[in-house]
Amino acid sequence: MSYEHIRVEPLTPTIGATVEGVDLREPLPDAVFAEIEQAWLSHLVIFFRDQHLSPEQHLGLGRRFGELHVHPAAPYAHDNPELMVIHADADSHRINGEGWHSDVSADIEPPMASILHLHQVPSRGGDTCWSNMYAAYEALSPAMQALLDPMTAQHVADYTGNYGDHAPQRESPRAVHPVVRVHPATGRKALYVNAGFTKRIVDLSREESRAMLAFLFEHVKDINFQCRFEWQADSIAMWDNRCTQHMAVWDYFPETRSGIRVTIKGDRPFNPEAGGSPAER
Ligand code: SIN
Repeated sequence: MSYEHIRVEPLTPTIGATVEGVDLREPLPDAVFAEIEQAWLSHLVIFFRDQHLSPEQHLGLGRRFGELHVHPAAPYAHDNPELMVIHADADSHRINGEGWHSDVSADIEPPMASILHLHQVPSRGGDTCWSNMYAAYEALSPAMQALLDPMTAQHVADYTGNYGDHAPQRESPRAVHPVVRVHPATGRKALYVNAGFTKRIVDLSREESRAMLAFLFEHVKDINFQCRFEWQADSIAMWDNRCTQHMAVWDYFPETRSGIRVTIKGDRPFNPEAGGSPAER
């Protein structure tokens, strides 16, 4: 793929790329937007350095990709629930996204994308890792792919105790999704179960489901599917929740790491081979 308006430098052959030559504070001309979108669909997570975005500009960037999603429970900034706070410091007892997950996959229509802007980073550490779920699916044997393709799984969110006194924005969601989803833009199959939210494969007995999910949760962590991003202040990461999982590394306690995430709504995960049409699930 060649680009005329931006420079794209892959982080690994499998996932992740840095994008240069664009100032995200400015409204993106159509040709630049199309190349950023192409880089994002090709590399699944893209990174930008030295982007001094205001919250308004961050919201504007998100809206360029679609309608914004509101997290069910996390605190937000500037009285705007679309500006999710990502923050850890010496008083933190937990952080967001410490385990492998796809953002709010328990929503009936889980987020398509997330755009995280970190304002403050620790002196070292605080990286985020992403894993490629196309690669995770493609690395399975044809027999395992054929077994999983028709299956669906229950995803449940439980934010109890995560956010102190902050009142949730809405009820914790739950949904049944295909175990393997077909990406609506690329048509490729991606594994869509994650340790953060997926509780049960509904087509299997409880014991079989537990064993299969344990295997799949290990499988998605294969280092060969991953990239790891070292943040600087004013770095931005934009990832595709439909075909990646990520986890934030909390190795910097008691230092502070702080930023804002804008999240973009997605559609209902679908696989024509799995459990009927979306309307029937
Ligand atoms: C998240 O959005 O899951 C948190 C990611 C991070 O803090 O790196």
